[in-house]
Amino acid sequence: MAVLLTGGAGFIGSHTCVELLNANEEVVILDNFSNSKPDVLDKIRTITGKNFRFYEVDLLDRDGVEKVFAENDIEAVIHFAGLKAVGESVQKPLEYYHNNITGTLILCDVMRKHNCKNIVFSSSATVYGSPKSVPIKEDFPLSTTNPYGSTKLMLEQILSDVFVSDNDWCVTLLRYFNPIGAHKSGLLGENPNGIPNNLMPYICQVADGRLEKLNVFGNDYPTHDGTGVRDYIHVVDLANGHLKALIHSRKEKGVHIFNLGTGVGYSVLDIVKAFEKANNVKVPYVIAPRRAGDIAECYADATKALEVLGWKTQYDIEQMCKDSWNFIVTNRK
Ligand code: WQD
Repeated sequence: MAVLLTGGAGFIGSHTCVELLNANEEVVILDNFSNSKPDVLDKIRTITGKNFRFYEVDLLDRDGVEKVFAENDIEAVIHFAGLKAVGESVQKPLEYYHNNITGTLILCDVMRKHNCKNIVFSSSATVYGSPKSVPIKEDFPLSTTNPYGSTKLMLEQILSDVFVSDNDWCVTLLRYFNPIGAHKSGLLGENPNGIPNNLMPYICQVADGRLEKLNVFGNDYPTHDGTGVRDYIHVVDLANGHLKALIHSRKEKGVHIFNLGTGVGYSVLDIVKAFEKANNVKVPYVIAPRRAGDIAECYADATKALEVLGWKTQYDIEQMCKDSWNFIVTNRK
């Protein structure tokens, strides 16, 4: 029995693949390389010394998805594949809804046809919108402010409705906060194409001299230093959260929702200072206007994942900064 990772060549998917292989799980990866690179596959094999089957398939290609299930005995799916840039989603809503929603509908239809009724879904803290308070619990109100976030919220609803229609399903919704860091080997990490949208890859490129300075998007938020506060979580901690969720799902039916965060909020300037100290580098910055759509504070109450999954994060912000930088230094051209 194998576990299918859609988008398994991506930043979070590849790190999750490593943790599953290390736990002696049988893994199949499906990916279309729209936001990842083929060399990741051999890096996973190098890190783990283990193999897995790979299919270059787009979820919109039903025949391709069907082939994966026809050729493998898939017991569960961890569903990472999807477009995920907030700003881009505002510019290209049709592409985001088609790719993320239609792709998932095809996946679930093929799963159902092959009697595979266990899905762990890559959701996001973005479904909480602008939270009424922090830390955020799983039962907080949900709202979204951009098409990317709306696809996540809609897919949570769709998957919940699938369980209502057939109580033999297990649906696990994992709401990520802000994943950063990289595998300690330096072989896997966050490698966005073009100018990074997210804070940590941008800081890395400034420290590496590829970008001149960091623009700090606003210092007039109601936070301890005026800059935005987020819950940064090491990608390997996040990957292990998926392994714990998979193990839990095998004993369960129903819809299960978990925040995957550290429960600690750091501001933009906290991160800049932590990165400079951890890596003995400078990160020049200027205060710039707020970015549209940003919220002041967002960090998790991760109690439920600890109580139900027995999962808690192991890596602190210093290690996250060191591992992010190690990936850059290790992969300089
Ligand atoms: C973090 C903080 C910015 C860049 C997004 C998505 C979310 C998830 C994670 C997919 C904020 C500030 C950033 C910069 C800055 N993605 N910042 N200068 O916006 O919290 O979350 O990525 O699931 O869905 O919304 O992450 O890293 O973009 O921003 O000052 O050049 O850093 O204002 O306070 P965000 P981020």
